[in-house]
Amino acid sequence: MKQSITILGSTGSIGVSTLDVISRHSEKYKIFALTANNNVDLLEQQCIQYQPLFAVIVDESKAEQLEQRLFSRGLSTNVLYGQAALEEVASDIAVDCVVAAIVGAAGLLPTLAAAGAGKRILLANKEALVMSGQLFMDSVAHHQAKLLPVDSEHNAIFQCLPDGCDNNILLKHDKGVQKLLLTASGGPFRTCPLETLEKVTPEQAIAHPNWNMGKKISVDSATMMNKGLELIEAYWLFGIEIENIEVVIHPQSIIHSMVSYNDGSVLAQLGNPDMRTPIANALAWPDRIESGVAPLDIFAVGKLEFEQPDLARFPCLRLCYEAIKTGGSATIVLNAANEIAVAAFLNSRIAFTSIAKVVEETLVDSTIITDISSLDSILSADRAARIIAEECILKHH
Ligand SMILES: NC(=O)c1ccc[n+]([C@@H]2O[C@H](COP(=O)([O-])OP(=O)(O)OC[C@H]3O[C@@H](n4cnc5c(N)ncnc54)[C@H](OP(=O)(O)O)[C@@H]3O)[C@@H](O)[C@H]2O)c1
Repeated sequence: MKQSITILGSTGSIGVSTLDVISRHSEKYKIFALTANNNVDLLEQQCIQYQPLFAVIVDESKAEQLEQRLFSRGLSTNVLYGQAALEEVASDIAVDCVVAAIVGAAGLLPTLAAAGAGKRILLANKEALVMSGQLFMDSVAHHQAKLLPVDSEHNAIFQCLPDGCDNNILLKHDKGVQKLLLTASGGPFRTCPLETLEKVTPEQAIAHPNWNMGKKISVDSATMMNKGLELIEAYWLFGIEIENIEVVIHPQSIIHSMVSYNDGSVLAQLGNPDMRTPIANALAWPDRIESGVAPLDIFAVGKLEFEQPDLARFPCLRLCYEAIKTGGSATIVLNAANEIAVAAFLNSRIAFTSIAKVVEETLVDSTIITDISSLDSILSADRAARIIAEECILKHH
């Protein structure tokens, strides 16, 4: 039986890599639904190649365009639009596996819908966990969904954990796990003089030295907010205290993360920096399939280096540690403010260094609520923080 797959965000960097892996194994996988925000051209091409049952595009007028184009090609794919349609194709009874690859808070509701329907979820959309960690993990456990991390660091940790510590199981130091070592490349500005950061352009910020990714995560990597969000993601995914997750700068991006054990062993997962490896691992787990990624040439790599992160250079990382310690809605506020600030930076409204300032000011100006056990409270904290972040931008930047 072929696995039936919905890819939320199929037109993005993760979505395209997932389709590349799937196209190598058409005997194992079939596409149930593909979704995009507004990229009609790419979604049309993907529909022609993969012939999904459903294509969802958020914008209604774009959906009409897509429907006409597919109809004129004689394709029978059903075109839907809007947020509710994303949730429908993530939870449909005919779906086995949902790849959560929408960027940002927009991915939260469809990913939660997949959890609520007990799906096998390949999670790339870290923002969903950052916003709703407890609610999301409770829903996964309650509905017996299967959560498989796609983020390369979390997938590496997942691969280095002992047998039996599969997803949804809190580690809590059993099986000898002492620490998770989350590796980070340090991004394009790891060594540049601090005073030059003020003048960084969006083009420079999205030019990551090792990984080819979407714009938002590329900027997050340059500020190291991405590593902070991953810290929060690891905290919820693996159920380990934040003090036992350490960020390690590793400029070569060959080791994707490590697990340290109480007998002195440190297990690492290595590979070329290509998201098709963790995607293939999560798709096929517990089996392994070919991903299209070239084997690692360890001699060409030569040396592997490690450094401690510089929190003065990367204030966003400090803000993430602080937000998770504050608890309650702090990580929701941090995530929302970051999305607003990154969009403002990409539109040349604020300087690169103002991203962290906007996030910090929004955290200071927001009321942090402790009870975030309902979806309503999460969404209202998110909305309020976006307004405050916009005000910070207008006031000071
Ligand atoms: N790229 C990586 O290597 C990587 C690695 C690890 C984790 N991740 C995580 O994976 C997620 C996706 O990253 P990415 O780099 O693939 O992003 P991306 O290239 O920007 O793609 C984002 C996808 O989400 C869709 N989308 C954007 N806004 C939406 C909205 N409001 N409603 C519905 N769909 C929307 C986009 O559609 P359009 O194309 O129509 O805009 C696109 O399909 C992020 O959470 C990121 O942190 C990415």
